[in-house]
Amino acid sequence: MTHHYTPELATTLKQRRQTLGDRLTTPVLLWSGSAPARNFPANHHPFRASSHFLYFAGVPLQDAVIYLHQGQLTLFMEDATPADALWHGSSPTRSAIADRLGAAAHYPLAELRQVAQGAATIPVQNAATRQQQMQVLGRPLGEANALQGQDLALAEALVALKLVQDDGAIAALQKAANVTVKAHLAGMAQTRHAKTEAEVRAAMEMVIMASQMEPAYQSIVTTHGEVLHSQTYHHSLNPGDLLLVDVGAEHPLGWAADVTRTWPVSGQWSDSQRAIYEVVLAAHDACIARIQPGIEYRDIHLTAAKTITEGLVALGILKGDVATLMERSAHALFFPHGIGHLLGLDVHDMEDLGDLAGYAPGRKRSHDYGMQYLRLNRPLQTGMTVTIEPGFYQVPAILENSKNRDTFADCINWERLADFKDVRGIRIEDDVLVTETGCRVLTSALPTQADEVLQCLKS
Ligand code: GLY
Ligand code: MN
Ligand code: MN
Repeated sequence: MTHHYTPELATTLKQRRQTLGDRLTTPVLLWSGSAPARNFPANHHPFRASSHFLYFAGVPLQDAVIYLHQGQLTLFMEDATPADALWHGSSPTRSAIADRLGAAAHYPLAELRQVAQGAATIPVQNAATRQQQMQVLGRPLGEANALQGQDLALAEALVALKLVQDDGAIAALQKAANVTVKAHLAGMAQTRHAKTEAEVRAAMEMVIMASQMEPAYQSIVTTHGEVLHSQTYHHSLNPGDLLLVDVGAEHPLGWAADVTRTWPVSGQWSDSQRAIYEVVLAAHDACIARIQPGIEYRDIHLTAAKTITEGLVALGILKGDVATLMERSAHALFFPHGIGHLLGLDVHDMEDLGDLAGYAPGRKRSHDYGMQYLRLNRPLQTGMTVTIEPGFYQVPAILENSKNRDTFADCINWERLADFKDVRGIRIEDDVLVTETGCRVLTSALPTQADEVLQCLKS
């Protein structure tokens, strides 16, 4: 992976380390994590380095720790053993890796204790690595979403840095976005030849893998769009089905894309499918049109909620006054999630830190029905990257819930809703960079217009 380490990246990383050093006087130790083994130690699950480590180290080293202090990086890791070379191929020496990383010094892991005193860290997801973190630091570590003391100060500094993407990050995010667009076009083109969801998924992941990237999260390719994060691929594709496809590529250095399109398997929308698609698209477009520095992301969410409510009233699915329906969160019966989230080195960037990144200081997540899944509640700033992903879903667990049916009895025309039963779920999701004058949609090369999507299905 060190072949991705370009002079531009070296400059970007130096800048990131210096900015952290300027913000935080406390030294920092960040672990990359280990590949979990299956039934024997060399049979690894795929390795993914911790994103906080990657942000400063740049490359996904395994079983490595970086010490950051006053803008300098010190690398701790073992040199590869002859057995590593036998099973996994030869790798550069620690000294060579340290050179590439611009490290001030490098040591074996046993030396970590020399610098552990008073160091701040972020607990990683991997349990074995977390044990090492506690041993080295000589103190218990809780969950990353409930940090205290120096660790909380570190998390706050990381949030301040990583909320706004630097040029290196934007370039990598754009590359992930470009490959994702190609993958979606391949999925669209494959649909008329495919018999199952799995075949469309395979065509899309082939593009991602052939581009030397990986899926940034488990691909969603489903005729059951009402299952928000469906992870099965066995359903057959039938002419009246919509296929909801939420697939994103991850750049080799970790940066993610996150894109959803929904298309008709037959190559033609039914009237009911097209009508709902236009409502979701109107919400998508209205949200993107409003993005600029200073606007509250919560207001972008409410723009989607309003556009969807208006659209469903116009179609006769919801009944009543739009403002009152929104106040009662009636839209959330069909649009039960937030309008999007931060995007970066993770698809839901920094959500390991709970709402520390997503919510501005002093703001707490609401438990209101329409707001509970709002993952980002901050004013937008130039350089932030977010997703915009409105949707419409008929989720049985929501619509058949007796409490909901009582509470919203006067809001829904059930008879009219039955005309739309061939719409299980539609989501349209793009990746957006906030710019000084508005925004740039990193994934704009992938069509969203209903007729353009049909053209892509034919190609
Ligand atoms: N792909 C997961 C999400 O859209 O949040
Ligand atoms: Mn998303
Ligand atoms: Mn997504």
